[in-house]
Amino acid sequence: MKTKILAKLRNTTDYVSGQSLCEEFEVSRTAVWKAINTLRKEGYEIEAVQHKGYRLRQVPQVLSQKELESIRQTKWLANTYYYYDEVVSTNTVAKQLAEEGAEHGAVIVAGKQTQGKGRRGRVWETPEGTSITMTYLLKPDMQPANASMLTLVMAMAVVRGMEQLVHLEAKIKWPNDIVVNSKKVCGILTEMSAQLDYINYIVVGTGINVLNESFPKELEEKATSLYLQSKERINRASLIEKINEEFEHYYEIFMETQDMSKLAKEYNSLLVNLGGQVRVEGGKEPYVGNSRGINERGELIVDTWEARRLVSSGEVSVRGVYGYV
Ligand code: BTN
Repeated sequence: MKTKILAKLRNTTDYVSGQSLCEEFEVSRTAVWKAINTLRKEGYEIEAVQHKGYRLRQVPQVLSQKELESIRQTKWLANTYYYYDEVVSTNTVAKQLAEEGAEHGAVIVAGKQTQGKGRRGRVWETPEGTSITMTYLLKPDMQPANASMLTLVMAMAVVRGMEQLVHLEAKIKWPNDIVVNSKKVCGILTEMSAQLDYINYIVVGTGINVLNESFPKELEEKATSLYLQSKERINRASLIEKINEEFEHYYEIFMETQDMSKLAKEYNSLLVNLGGQVRVEGGKEPYVGNSRGINERGELIVDTWEARRLVSSGEVSVRGVYGYV
C-alpha cells in the first residue's frame, strides 16, 4: 500500500487528494494517513494542504527496494529487484541467484559491498551511502562469443541515463569506463556462465560514484563522482531507473542482430578518445595508435603507423597516451 501511494505521489506533480487515494486503493482515510506518516519517517518530505491533498516535495537519499519498485517504468528489466543493505558483491549474489533459478532481467542492488570486484582482479571500493552498485542478471539466447558486447550496451545506457538527470558530459572510455572531465565515474564488470555454445547466464555489474565527496589520495587523480563534478546530489534510485529504461531500449536493439551493428555509430559518438592517440597494453607488446571507434563486433579499431589492429575487450587496457583517458 505504502509503495502504491508513493508511486502515485511520485508520478503526479500536483497535489493528490486523500479521497482519491482512498478510492483508488480501496482503503480508509486512516490507512492513507498512516502510510503517509510512515513515508515521512523514512525521509520522504510530503506536504499536506487542506482541501488539496498530498504532494511529494523530496525523496530521501536512501536506496531501498520500495523506492526502486515505486518508480519502475520498465517493461521487463527489474521486474524483480533484489535489494540488500550489504553484500560481498552484487555480481556474486547475482550468480548465486541465477544458480537458484532467478529469472532473466532480475536486478540486484546493494547499499554496500564488502568485496566489490573490478576488472582484472582489482577491488572496487564503494563507501557506504555514496554509490550505485547493481547487477543485471540476463539469460539471452545467443552465442557466448557475443556476451562481452553487453558491457558496451551497458555503457551506453549509463551515459544516456546520466544525461537525463545531471548536466554533465559523460563519455565512454572503451570498453567499460564512463568518464566525466577525464576522470572515471563508473566501471562495468560483465561475467558469464556458459557451455561452448550456450549461455547459462550473464551478469552485468555496474558501479557508479554518485555522491562521493572525496576519494583516497591514490585515486584522486583518476576517480570522481557525479556530485564532485556537478555539485548536484542525484537521487540514486532515480538514476538506476533511468539507466534501466535506457538499457532495456538498447538491449532490445542489440538482440535484433546480437552485435553492435545498429549501435556502433551512437556508441562511437560517445567515445572519449575517438580519433585520439591511445596506448594498448596487456597483450604481447604495448603499442600506440589512433582510436577509430568500434566495429560491429564491439572491437576497438586502432590504426598504428604500420597496420590497422582490432582490439577485443578481454585482457588489454586502452589508455590515453598522456594519461588515463
Ligand atoms: C571496473 O571498472 O574495474 C569494473 C568495476 C565494476 C564494479 C561493479 S559494482 C557492482 C558490481 N559488483 C561488483 O563486485 N563489481 C561490479
